[in-house]
Formats: sequence, C-alpha cells, structure tokens
Amino acid sequence: MSTKNIVFSAIQPSNNLTIGNYIGAIKQWINIQDSYKCIYCIADLHAITSNNYSNLKVLSLNTLALYLACGVSPDINIICLQSEIVEHSQLHWILSCYINWNTLKYMTQFKNSYMKYNYLSNKITVGLFTYPILMASDILLYQTNYVPVGYDQKQHLEFSRKVARNFNKKYGNIFTIPQPIIAKIGKITSLLNPMRKMSKSDSNNNNYISLLDEPELVIKKINNAITDSDNPPIIKYDLKNKPGISNLLNILSVLTNTSIINLENDLNNINYTQLKKIVASEINNILFKIQKKYYSIRNKEKYLNNILISGNKKAKTIARNTLNRVYKVINIK
Ligand code: AMP
Ligand code: TRP
Repeated sequence: MSTKNIVFSAIQPSNNLTIGNYIGAIKQWINIQDSYKCIYCIADLHAITSNNYSNLKVLSLNTLALYLACGVSPDINIICLQSEIVEHSQLHWILSCYINWNTLKYMTQFKNSYMKYNYLSNKITVGLFTYPILMASDILLYQTNYVPVGYDQKQHLEFSRKVARNFNKKYGNIFTIPQPIIAKIGKITSLLNPMRKMSKSDSNNNNYISLLDEPELVIKKINNAITDSDNPPIIKYDLKNKPGISNLLNILSVLTNTSIINLENDLNNINYTQLKKIVASEINNILFKIQKKYYSIRNKEKYLNNILISGNKKAKTIARNTLNRVYKVINIK
C-alpha cells in the first residue's frame, strides 16, 4: 500500500473555471501532485445546491478537460465525479445525524446566500444549508491528510475537522483529521468589486476572467477593472485602501512567480493603464497554453469519460472502506 499522504480537493462545475480557481486551487494541486496521493473531484452534487442546470454533465466534462489542460495529470492522480460515488451521499446522511443544525446556521457561505435572497426565497434550499456536511463527507471518506483550497473554504475545512474530531471522540479513530493547504495570496477578487471574491457563478461575467476567455476579452475585462483615483498613481499592495491594485498585483505575482515586493519595486514608475496591459498580457500567456490543450481534448469524450470511469472506481474502493467502518461502529452493519 502507498505510504504517501492523501490529498483531496474538488471544484463545483457550476461554470467554466476562472483564474481565481486556477490561482487559489488548481495551481496548488499541480504543485503537490508528485508528492502525495491526490484525489481531485468534480463536485457536481454541490453545484445543484444553488442552481438547476440543464447541462450539468457537459459542465462536468468541461471542468475535467480544464483540470487536464491546466496540468492535473490523470496518470498519477485519481480524478473522479462526486455523483458517481454514492458513498458521498451516504456518509452525508450519517454525519448529518451527528451535527447540531445550530452550527450550520453560522456558516458564511450559507449566511451570504441567505442575506442575498432572504429566507423565503426558493433559492435557499436545504441542500445549501447542509452543503458543509457533504463537503466534510467528501474529505473524510478518503482519510484525507491535506486539502488544498482557496481562502474562502477555510471555514468549511474547520467544520470538517470538528466533525471528524467529534465522531472520533465517540467511536475511536475512524477519520483522519484533515489539514487545509491555503494559497498564500488569499483570494482573487472580483474585477468590478474588489472587496468581493471573484466567482465563476457571478451573474456579471465582467467580474471574472474565465480560463476560456479570448485574448481580446481578457484585455477588455482587465482594462475595465476597478482601481483607485490616486494621483499620481501608486502601484502598492494595500488590501484595505487599494483593493483593486492589490488584486492585480496578486494575479501578476502568482502568474510570474515574482514576489509582491519585487513587483512594487519594478513597477513603481508606471501608470494603471500600463499595469493593466502587463497583467492582461501575462494572463493571456497562461490562457493560451491552457486553451490550446483544452480544445485538443474537449471533443474526445470517450477519453474523458474513461478517465472518470477509472477514477470513480478507484475512489469508490477507498470510500467504501471508510463507510463500512462507519456503519460498523454505529451498529448498522
Ligand atoms: P468553487 O469555484 O467555489 O467551486 O471553488 C473551487 C476552488 O477554487 C476552491 O478551493 C476555492 O477556494 C477556490 N477559489 C474559487 N474562487 C477563488 C478566488 N476568487 N480566489 C481564490 N481561490 C478561489
Ligand atoms: N465547496 C468547495 C468550493 O466551493 C468545493 C468542494 C466540494 C470541496 N467538496 C470539497 C473542496 C472537498 C475541497 C474538499 O470551493
């Protein structure tokens, strides 16, 4: 048996991935894929908590093709589709019987939707409320050691750790306690509202850069990104007072592997239009490579489906093993 530590992470196929997903999650996935046993999942069951899709299978295959195009290797990682491994839903039910509903009320992601729509809206589903339990199930089923995610998922990770600890306290060492690996840059923010997270499900697509955006569109979106009215312009990292410029510096720093301090020094004589030109050009360099690979594989549906069939099978074996242990200790089996 492999002695490598286990990594699990997932992304919802709610739309094509953004540079936020790339920088916050996938780039880390790739960095660690040689060192750990990694399971990278497409969280389609999470996606239906906030929307009814008519094309979810297509979006899942797009997501898979984007994983591969970004450099996630199907040869060394397990890549799987959440809905095909029924153990996720089964553990979700069991854990939900061990979690006080009061704790879920305070989860930020739920609270944000709740405040956005109001509680009578039919957008606020029970699934959205119990979302963190499904996420904990995803992670705990695989005896996961590390979970590489963006900063916005930190609270969900803390919740998963708490669920595992409470269950273990009652029944012995059933679950490994997972640790988050969070990208140093924090989060990539929305282009037009840099106080908010860049999100692929944003209703205004000018707020995000999709990994499939064409070069001219990237230039246009970055050109329109909100900065500030400092005169003369100051290229300085200051999340509180200059969130727009800080976001552009964050993106540039990750894409060029250059520290923020070095960027501030190198760019101190240029104006915001020039900065935007550099940022758009670096994004387009990366997207060019990703899109080239993406369009070379997206039509090969058999190839893509086979990756999932093989990944689902391997994932299921691990997941079943944990679920059987859970059934046993709670006296179902
Ligand atoms: P989601 O798009 O919500 O399914 O997120 C999938 C992964 O990408 C998670 O690890 C998130 O934390 C990460 N992520 C999503 N949006 C951003 C962002 N704007 N900045 C950094 N990480 C992000
Ligand atoms: N909730 C995560 C997000 O929106 C996606 C996700 C689902 C996930 N299950 C997971 C991430 C398990 C890490 C581990 O970003």
